[in-house]
Amino acid sequence: MDNFEYRGEKLHAEDLDLNQIAEQFGTPTYVYSRDTLERNYVAYSQALEGCEHLVCYAVKANSNIAVLNVLAQLGAGFDIVSVGELERVLVAGADPKRIVFSGVGKQTHEMQRALEVGVHCFNVESEAELERLQSVAAGMNCIAPVSLRINPDVDAKTHPYISTGLKENKFGIGIDQAPAAYAQAAAMTHIKVIGVDCHIGSQLTSIDPYLDAMDRLFGLIDTITAQGIAIEHLDLGGGLGVCYGDEEPPAIADFMARVRAHLGDRKLALVFEPGRSICADAGILLTRVEYIKNNQDKYFAIVDAAMNDLIRPALYSAWQDIIPVNLHSNSQAHNFDIVGPICETSDFLGKDRNLAIEANDLLAVCSSGAYGFAMASNYNSRNRAAEVMVDGDKSHLIGEREELSQQWAREHLLPKS
Ligand code: LLP
Repeated sequence: MDNFEYRGEKLHAEDLDLNQIAEQFGTPTYVYSRDTLERNYVAYSQALEGCEHLVCYAVKANSNIAVLNVLAQLGAGFDIVSVGELERVLVAGADPKRIVFSGVGKQTHEMQRALEVGVHCFNVESEAELERLQSVAAGMNCIAPVSLRINPDVDAKTHPYISTGLKENKFGIGIDQAPAAYAQAAAMTHIKVIGVDCHIGSQLTSIDPYLDAMDRLFGLIDTITAQGIAIEHLDLGGGLGVCYGDEEPPAIADFMARVRAHLGDRKLALVFEPGRSICADAGILLTRVEYIKNNQDKYFAIVDAAMNDLIRPALYSAWQDIIPVNLHSNSQAHNFDIVGPICETSDFLGKDRNLAIEANDLLAVCSSGAYGFAMASNYNSRNRAAEVMVDGDKSHLIGEREELSQQWAREHLLPKS
């Protein structure tokens, strides 16, 4: 259950009417619910009580500093993939000791900064990265804590672009090469092996692939333990799916319970890197209909949000529900394609949606809190949207709508010839 519900005929975010938010902040605007965000995080941490654990929110899903700060206040850890994300979480009040650093292409300066602040762990994805980290740590005269990201070769049965645990993906170290990579890491003077890591994909709606991955990683852990390498934690990554349409993903508590049961009496701390399951249903994209257009049999609602604001439908053919902010309508229902103003056929937010709408109506694109604003761009020289966090009956502007001059503030004309 999220906090976007109709009260009477008006869609609310927590206790606030979305009409009021559109009035005050304009559109398009991302609107987040603090309560949903907190409840999703707490669902993880509560289900893991009594078991040593770290829930590291995957910053890439929504990196607004207010979102990060709300989670940091609850004691969340963070999964970062760049120095940009590192600096963001530090600004937002994160504890460096609760940060894991993932990603296939960490640069030297990024490693240096992470070592300087003292992150909990580097999730290393290749032998070459291991060597670079060893030399960076040696240069700084410190020890880098490391977990190797293993590619367990399991099929997460999700969209090919967001499936990451198969052999053909660029991610991680193949499970067959892993014992040798661990031996290499253990022999390094400035590396301390502390964990085993995997992330098999995103928007998973079944727990079974996680349990398959665990079985494979248990086999690996037994092998490397026999080599005399002690493993303190098992990081299962993120990936739990959410309900965009008719998916039926497991509840966070059930997911955690199954994993704990599967862990049995192995003495391993558990680390998770959830992104989408923390923030997707904590956000909607609020947009206004500019024009209704009828090309013979086809109806279009041209709205003021576009693929630059929310690229998931265009990029992954993702389906997200689109609902009216005001239920009462005198207009006739049609099957609409909800499209933006961008000059591409792929610029749609939803297709074939049966809605009774007219120009000027407000719509909410549901479950947009994850990979929404975070993937926004300035394509077609459009300003990025505003972001508002609702907390009970209060709204807070947590991301200002971009201004045109900000778009070219970093650009320069050539010198006059
Ligand atoms: N850990 C690692 C190493 C990851 O690569 C990811 C996501 C996560 C954790 C968080 O996964 P989540 O819990 O959010 O599924 N833009 C796509 C999703 C890309 C996911 C990339 N990696 C989308 O909009 O569906």
